[in-house]
Amino acid sequence: MRIVVTGTQGQIDTSIQRLGERLGISITRVGLPDVDLASIDTLDAAVRAARPDVIISAAAYTSVDKAESEPELAQKINGDAPGALARIANDTGLPLLHLSTDYVFSGDKLGAYTETDAPAPIGVYGKTKLSGEQQIRNATDNHVILRTAWVYSPYGNNFVKTMLRLGETNDRVTVVDDQFGCPTYAPDIARALLVIAQQVVNDRDETLRGVFNLTGEGETTWANFARAIFAGAERRGRRPVQVDNISSQAYQAVAKRPLNSRLSRDKLDDVYGLRLDGWQTSLDRCLDQLIAPLRE
Ligand SMILES: NC(=O)c1ccc[n+]([C@@H]2O[C@H](COP(=O)([O-])OP(=O)(O)OC[C@H]3O[C@@H](n4cnc5c(N)ncnc54)[C@H](OP(=O)(O)O)[C@@H]3O)[C@@H](O)[C@H]2O)c1
Repeated sequence: MRIVVTGTQGQIDTSIQRLGERLGISITRVGLPDVDLASIDTLDAAVRAARPDVIISAAAYTSVDKAESEPELAQKINGDAPGALARIANDTGLPLLHLSTDYVFSGDKLGAYTETDAPAPIGVYGKTKLSGEQQIRNATDNHVILRTAWVYSPYGNNFVKTMLRLGETNDRVTVVDDQFGCPTYAPDIARALLVIAQQVVNDRDETLRGVFNLTGEGETTWANFARAIFAGAERRGRRPVQVDNISSQAYQAVAKRPLNSRLSRDKLDDVYGLRLDGWQTSLDRCLDQLIAPLRE
């Protein structure tokens, strides 16, 4: 199987690349500086040159706060570029796997969001990602949209790496404690994507297509996620760090985030038989990569 993936430096594209290398699957990443998703004239040629069996759309404008002041750029990258990719997929007869987000939801629901719940994003990032989903649906039926959340890994920028960095110079950190979500490990996402890719390449069944949630097992708040990170770091020899709770209202981030963005995992399990590991288990794997083991 040959796979083309958008993104060259990101958490998920890097995880796909590394897993592909281990499994002997040909992965071609397309992205900056050669292919800029904000001006997509070179995208078609780059995708076709890789002669893929499947396209994975992983790259995105992921700075949730910055998107509030750059809505046009975020729309081009998160909305219009996935639409263009879907038209390329349709023209070439290829399946498209696309990463979307829990931030397409408002956060008002009490329980976990299912794939049939109506999206109602409250920030620019979520709105532009929802536009990407809609543009894909308009261009091709041969798509799988995978909504993931709270992604962390040893690669790129993410909450785990930020906490570890803050813990190097601070004894206490303040973290919001009223947003609930599902931390998801990028290498676990990559594994699921390769299974899904294999199935859609070999099987035209429409039940394999459509929108699916793809998150790590379990749920938590950012503050408790931070506590688990510092506890794991302490077990690996780092000094203790205290986490102080703060409400989202008091923290005043530039972009509003959904208070509840927990996603149900049942559809992915029912259709693909896939469940990702629990976030605590995968966090341990991530910390093993990020923190050198204690010398006895
Ligand atoms: N991170 C999360 O918590 C999270 C949560 C839910 C959903 N998702 C979705 O999951 C997907 C992957 O996320 P991630 O965490 O792997 O993202 P990431 O680490 O921020 O990586 C994003 C990738 O997109 C590339 N990119 C950004 N602007 C581009 C442009 N104009 N042209 C070409 N490439 C561009 C980046 O390249 P440079 O590094 O060179 O800029 C990078 O390779 C995205 O679709 C995201 O919306 C992520």
